[in-house]
Amino acid sequence: MFIALNIVGVQPGDTVLTNAFTFHAVPSVIEHARAVPVLVESNREWAMDAEDLDKKATETGANVLLMSYMRGHVPDMDAIMKVVEKHDMILIEDCAHAYATLWNGKLLGTFGEIGCFSTQSSKALSAGEGGIFITNDDEHAAKAVLYAGSYERLWMKHYDLDSDLMDQLQNQIPGYSMRMQEVTAAMLTPQIDRLAAIKKIHVDNWALLHSLIHDHPNIEIPLPLPQVDSFCDTMQFHLVGMSRDDADRFIDLMKEEGIPMQIFGARRNARDYRQWEYIKAHQDELKATVANIEFACDLSMQPHLNSDNIRVMGRVILDVLAYIHGQ
Ligand SMILES: Cc1ncc(COP(=O)(O)O)c(C=O)c1O
Repeated sequence: MFIALNIVGVQPGDTVLTNAFTFHAVPSVIEHARAVPVLVESNREWAMDAEDLDKKATETGANVLLMSYMRGHVPDMDAIMKVVEKHDMILIEDCAHAYATLWNGKLLGTFGEIGCFSTQSSKALSAGEGGIFITNDDEHAAKAVLYAGSYERLWMKHYDLDSDLMDQLQNQIPGYSMRMQEVTAAMLTPQIDRLAAIKKIHVDNWALLHSLIHDHPNIEIPLPLPQVDSFCDTMQFHLVGMSRDDADRFIDLMKEEGIPMQIFGARRNARDYRQWEYIKAHQDELKATVANIEFACDLSMQPHLNSDNIRVMGRVILDVLAYIHGQ
């Protein structure tokens, strides 16, 4: 994402719009580029709110949007793209949590000028660290290779790029030594072919868990828009009608039962924008986002889980809620 921001010409002091609800790596990368993140509200389904994006774009005049599909949640892409076009913004997509995710059949990561996919250890394609960059713009691709640290035409070993363009850009672009190690690439490559099979496991498991818990009165699971085809490797739900203490107790008991969960808006969570003190000076209060993360539980669902495991998870969630109410 840092390379992407450089490629689209973000300068120190520029405003970059991004999600209020995402992981702190996202505002951090904007800060890394010495730009100023301005946060856009999220909706009940934890995706970016197009109306607030329009408002913030008008107020700031920003021309770059770094949009994160946090936990795979996808906003109304038609509405977002209308705002992007209206303000003539450059869109960079953070697809760290949105592998193989589609809107109306179109892959996320292909809506903007650049799509970024983290391959850090908790991601769907996982190699410990590193990331993948996609674009259909030859000049962006050439610059990415050079910013990553290719020099003296070493790119010829790896990439089928336009040599005239590369030679012309070679000495204009600093090399930030962000090259992916070959060992990392070797770990990633075979995983790409397995993505579709892994997605199927996640989609089935998600649907099963949803069917087991969604009608409990303390659980609200906002569904994605019908245009979205999600990867489903995590599940989020709002705890409703519960006090802060009971919600915290729910998390503690789930951990004791061997199913660790977190609440985004509680206990110094790095996905709560109020913790990002390094950008605090620039932010207004974001009431909708606070309301949408305060009781939002987050559950990771690894692909080795089978339907029996998911049934146990569902049972434990319901039992823990019953236990809290019975006390
Ligand atoms: C939503 C989101 N975007 C971006 C990143 C950044 O990824 P990386 O650590 O590979 O830079 C992360 C990392 O966890 C993330 O959760």
